[in-house]
Amino acid sequence: MAETMKGLHRSHRCAELGTADIGETVTVMGWVQKSRNKGGIIFVDLRDRSGILQLIFEEADCGSENFQKAEKLRSEFVVAAVGKVEKRSAAVNQNLATGEIEIRVADLRILSEAQTPPFPIEAGSRTKEEMRLKYRFLDLRRPDIQSKLMLRSQVATKVRAVLAEEGFLEIETPILIKSTPEGARDYLVPSRVHQGKFYALPQSPQLFKQLLMCSGYDRYFQIAKCFRDEDLRADRQPEFTQIDMEMSFVDVDDVIAVNERLLQKVFKDAIGLDIELPLPRMTWQEAMDRYGSDKPDTRFGMELTDVSEVVKDCAFGVFTGALAHGGSVRGINAKGQGQMPRKKIDALVEFAKGYGAKGLAYVAVQPDGSVKSSFAKFMTEQQMEALQAAMGAEPGDLLLFAADKNKIVWDVLGNLRLEIAKSLELFDKNQFCFLWVTEFPLLEWSEEQARFVAMHHPFTMPMEEDLDKLDSDPGAVRAKAYDIVLNGTELGGGSVRIFQADIQEKMFEVLGFTKEQARERFGFLLDAFQYGVPPHAGLAYGFDRLMMLMTGADSIREVIAFPKVKDASDLMSNAPDVVDPIQIEELGIAVTAKEEQAKTE
Ligand code: AMO
Ligand code: AMP
Repeated sequence: MAETMKGLHRSHRCAELGTADIGETVTVMGWVQKSRNKGGIIFVDLRDRSGILQLIFEEADCGSENFQKAEKLRSEFVVAAVGKVEKRSAAVNQNLATGEIEIRVADLRILSEAQTPPFPIEAGSRTKEEMRLKYRFLDLRRPDIQSKLMLRSQVATKVRAVLAEEGFLEIETPILIKSTPEGARDYLVPSRVHQGKFYALPQSPQLFKQLLMCSGYDRYFQIAKCFRDEDLRADRQPEFTQIDMEMSFVDVDDVIAVNERLLQKVFKDAIGLDIELPLPRMTWQEAMDRYGSDKPDTRFGMELTDVSEVVKDCAFGVFTGALAHGGSVRGINAKGQGQMPRKKIDALVEFAKGYGAKGLAYVAVQPDGSVKSSFAKFMTEQQMEALQAAMGAEPGDLLLFAADKNKIVWDVLGNLRLEIAKSLELFDKNQFCFLWVTEFPLLEWSEEQARFVAMHHPFTMPMEEDLDKLDSDPGAVRAKAYDIVLNGTELGGGSVRIFQADIQEKMFEVLGFTKEQARERFGFLLDAFQYGVPPHAGLAYGFDRLMMLMTGADSIREVIAFPKVKDASDLMSNAPDVVDPIQIEELGIAVTAKEEQAKTE
């Protein structure tokens, strides 16, 4: 039977000890990393979340009973050891913080035995992620994951401290709320008491934080769980965490200023990074024109060039056709890639097609200045020269062009730019390039729904100078919305909110809601707006994304203790799972398609 720790108190974490403690008697507890029996001496590496410490056992110090126990130690046993800190007798280990010391153990207790884990508990595991997530409780013991989660905790603490200094109040908002779908799909929770009715889990605390502003709490923040039933990617989870905030009596610049101070202090505290303020800003239009993306990675160039004017009179139908349909022709210059083999260029064409391109036209400028091109035969010599000049082409460059509707051209070239930069390693992984993207379009046309949808959300304020276009040209209205972008990832976003009932009503009308529908969904917000509402604005960061970027992780799963996989399931607990039919019955609902049945049909 395992022993207990009765009478013992842990005095230090493993890596809290150092040469300054030599001569002290200490009590340490943790997991056995490994154990080596060298005949009369046993060395044990003891691990806890602080690091690793070497224990040394000799029968003369600890007695035969303890020595026999030490002989039984295997990886992941949990033990307590009492002993004296000594300078290492054998070779000093430079790789360990505690590499110059060891504990000469006098007393050992085995608190818990362990089976052999299915994979080694060590940094830089090459174990398949599926296996790691099934045994997440073991995976979480690995030092690289532990350091990420410890940093996450440190960042949360710092965020709270900085926002408190800035006068923000931390207020919780409910998790069981009314469904107000606009954006992603809601997760629904059936009500037992009100049969046939459902709660939704919040996609964000948006409406509640606006109500808090109506109630006078003038600066709110929350580290909030959010739920969105959407297709997952490396930087998306069905439940994730936001650092969410809202402020009263402010405009765009005030929100940006507070958040720049927050980012500066948090990055300095967490990873020692100095951020120079103010951060660069760019309008959405400029970001699209220069980078083909509303979250540009500004660590490298290879910007887009609009060559519509240059090619408008050429004989290449692909170009002139796109222009005739209101589109554009734009290109990027992959410097020094003019000798790229045909096969690789074809792969880029296929990549572009994945983003909706019908093709990709190219000009490969040879070292002698001659060109190889997919459309040279449609161009006069002057036109080809003008095109190269517009693209800043030099011998040895590869020019890639897309012709289509703007939206497709941006998407294709924006992604191509990233793909080429990645494969050529054009950026420094340790560099942090922040950017505010401002003046987003207010609305976006949804082909699927055949109506305008809000690009951010329906409570976002149009830019005052564009208000008159809400009726005449809604697609051209810009919003007081902003995103904070880091190295090509959208770290956070927010907006100034509509606080005038008439503009909010107009907005709902443009979005195609009848008055009744708007009331039905957002009545409580509209009511609140009848009783004195301050101008307000806010922003929310994706906390998981922030930690992913800070730690250089490839996915947000690496910075979430218990993440879900692509199909939104949890491999460890097996959620979601079937429930007892009685539970379903109590809720007054019926399951019409069981997953197993659905699979075989
Ligand atoms: P938005 O929808 O832009 O704005 O979300 C804010 C930030 O949350 C992060 N994020 C996600 N992170 C992980 N998994 C997801 N599925 C996911 N979805 C979003 C992103 C994003 O920038 N209420 C508004 C904010 C406001 O206007 O104040 C909102 O939720 O980093
Ligand atoms: P095609 O006329 O389809 O044989 O195409 C001639 C060249 O133009 C090929 O290199 C295509 O990849 C390219 N191309 C076709 N459509 C587009 C487009 N929308 N934008 C850019 N290049 C295109």
